[in-house]
Amino acid sequence: MEPTWNHTTVLLQEAVDALLDNAPVAAGTWVDATFGRGGHSRALLSRLGPSARLVAFDKDPEAVAEASRIEDARFSIRHQGFKDLGELPPGSVAGLLMDLGISSPQIDNPARGFSFRFDGPLDMRMDTTRGESVAEWLATADPQQMAEVIRDYGEERFAVQIAKAIAARRQERGPISTTAELAELVAGTVKTREQGQNPATRTFQALRIFINAELEELQQALEASLLVLQPKGRLAVISFHSLEDRIVKQFIAKHSREVYDRRTPFAAPRAMKLKALARIKPSQEEVDRNPRARSAILRVAERTAEA
Ligand SMILES: C[S@@+](CC[C@H](N)C(=O)[O-])C[C@H]1O[C@@H](n2cnc3c(N)ncnc32)[C@H](O)[C@@H]1O
Repeated sequence: MEPTWNHTTVLLQEAVDALLDNAPVAAGTWVDATFGRGGHSRALLSRLGPSARLVAFDKDPEAVAEASRIEDARFSIRHQGFKDLGELPPGSVAGLLMDLGISSPQIDNPARGFSFRFDGPLDMRMDTTRGESVAEWLATADPQQMAEVIRDYGEERFAVQIAKAIAARRQERGPISTTAELAELVAGTVKTREQGQNPATRTFQALRIFINAELEELQQALEASLLVLQPKGRLAVISFHSLEDRIVKQFIAKHSREVYDRRTPFAAPRAMKLKALARIKPSQEEVDRNPRARSAILRVAERTAEA
């Protein structure tokens, strides 16, 4: 029998409360852009009214298979990246949740290749039905591009050395194909590391972000949210590292300002599109219960009626 990997939903109550707040829940459309194992979706369904709809997205076919087990006429799942959120009718969404990153079933399944803690094929794709795996990319990538990816998405000081080591190993013994091979190579290259951190942490994070185009798709989804959210519709985004959180924070800040056009100084400013509402961290009790929650930050904003 296939082992089952569970996902403990982070900021469950906080995210659902932020989305629903005082909103009328009898009808309307809500979106869970990152279904995962459906923790947030199920909690939302339990609070939404009989004529409401919940549309979920996930890139991962295993998450989609899990979602298909939900028997609720109000719920539907799309095997699609959230960058395509803009396909929903304009102004139709009462609340949109994004719980970014990967789920525990993805990290904990060695066959997915996300973790240096288990040996498995070096894959790391969220959508295993398309695109290139990390192993395939590393087999031919230019060393300078590898270094840039590892530096920019992993904030790794030793990115150049790691990229050179990958290229040298490719020449000497052929491409890297497993997580253990990559973890070992990085450990042999990175001489110092923050206490308690595996030397490969930053490299694995960088390659995962790159191969799934995570930051680009986040930016696209945020832009699309402005189109699909209805006035007073809520945007709630949970991020797990500073690169993601910076994008969310800057996006909300940029659209929470009135914009003056310097070429027409006396014209009325363009109205803001979002109102920043909250920045929420998990409680100590949640972090003690689920250490994977420790870096989570939930940011909440509301679509304004203007613009
Ligand atoms: C942290 S988990 C979500 C967990 C979920 N909230 C729960 O309670 O079970 C993130 C999920 O988002 C999916 N995902 C990540 N990036 C995505 C993207 N660009 N488009 C669609 N789904 C994505 C992943 O496949 C993963 O299943």
